[in-house]
Amino acid sequence: MSETVLQVTGVSRSYRSVRAADDVSFTLGVGGSLGIVGESGSGKTTTARIVVGLERADAGEV
Ligand SMILES: Nc1ncnc2c1ncn2[C@@H]1O[C@H](COP(=O)(O)OP(=O)(O)OP(=O)(O)O)[C@@H](O)[C@H]1O
Ligand SMILES: [Mg+2]
Repeated sequence: MSETVLQVTGVSRSYRSVRAADDVSFTLGVGGSLGIVGESGSGKTTTARIVVGLERADAGEV
């Protein structure tokens, strides 16, 4: 198992009543690549913005 460079644990974010990200967790290792796929509105952009620090999470850790 390679060294972890990114760990996302239980990240959630709501906009009013919309749960945009709901308990998102994943781990990325050295030399790995990450894709986020899903239907429109499933929370891809929200998750990416939280990971890069453009958005805060209501819960969870990056
Ligand atoms: N700034 C915001 N204010 C209010 N609601 C938001 C905001 N950003 C996202 N949402 C809502 O959160 C949910 C997830 O949106 P997000 O943009 O993360 O999805 P997405 O997977 O990137 O969609 P797409 O494939 O259309 O780009 C949607 O219901 C969206 O309307
Ligand atoms: Mg998007």
